[in-house]
Amino acid sequence: MTLTRRSFLGVAAGAGALAAVGVPIPALAANKPLTIGFSQVGAESEWRTANTASIKAAARQAGVNLKFADAQQRQENQVKAIRSFIAQRVDVIAFSPVVETGWDTVLREAKAAKIPVILTDRSVKVSDPSLYVSFIGSDFVEEGRRAGRWLLEYDKQMGGKPLNIVELQGTVGSAPATDRKTGFAEIIATNPKLKIIRSQTGDFTRAKGKEVMEAFLKSEGKNINVLYAHNDDMAIGAIQAIEEAGLKPGKDIAIVSIDGVRGAFQAMVQGKLNVTIECNPLLGPTLMQIAQAVVAGKPVAKRVTIEEGVFPADVAAKVLPTRKY
Ligand code: AHR
Repeated sequence: MTLTRRSFLGVAAGAGALAAVGVPIPALAANKPLTIGFSQVGAESEWRTANTASIKAAARQAGVNLKFADAQQRQENQVKAIRSFIAQRVDVIAFSPVVETGWDTVLREAKAAKIPVILTDRSVKVSDPSLYVSFIGSDFVEEGRRAGRWLLEYDKQMGGKPLNIVELQGTVGSAPATDRKTGFAEIIATNPKLKIIRSQTGDFTRAKGKEVMEAFLKSEGKNINVLYAHNDDMAIGAIQAIEEAGLKPGKDIAIVSIDGVRGAFQAMVQGKLNVTIECNPLLGPTLMQIAQAVVAGKPVAKRVTIEEGVFPADVAAKVLPTRKY
């Protein structure tokens, strides 16, 4: 049966739920190259650069016409980009939301225009889950838990002594910042000797990570035993601040961060970072597959999670040459 774009409309309202139970979503007309409008968060980190490269390369390989917009870490820019994709009548809208809330209106506009929406990397909190068809990304709460579990082990190795932790949070209101904080807090709560003494956003950037770590060092000095950074870039910025303060990162202050980018592996090889928790940015191929399935009327999973590992410093030299980002 050839399914027209119009017939997709009737299904779109419940696309996520229907796809989850295997009810196909009707397809676009055959032989028409797929057009995806993609709104990216920005270029704030090494992770994001790798994510953008993955999406662009996968689109090229799949013969997808990609309309790419960089939101420079601003939600209003993403809303504008999504509205422009709706006006251009793209086949699929995909985006990685800067923050979790505030999407209902624009996603209802996409739904009214019968354009399916796929979330990549970060989730949204919306009143109606049928406003998007699928979410492809990591489990950020689990990443925070992994960081916490590594710290419990580290504390055992240190003889179970009390540890004062400073936390560099990601962008306020973003899913990874909220979830990584939650997962980490859940695990360290099992050991009353582990205390977060300062916690502030560094907006996922090296520059802010450095700036905030400087302020932590100024107010807490040698009280700080551990830095937990919600991403590697902030940890790398903080490493600079720690060195400039005359301390040894990775030794005087243990550092646990998230992403697993090459820069973190290099810092581990130099003994300046203790562990990185992987967050895989290579989402492009999965995004293309899901988008093609949606327009072909095939069932798609509402939630696609990504398998990830934990890399402590002692494996860094061996693993570094194999890293893809
Ligand atoms: O949403 C994923 C996070 O965003 C990555 O951990 C971080 O590096 C990026 O900026």
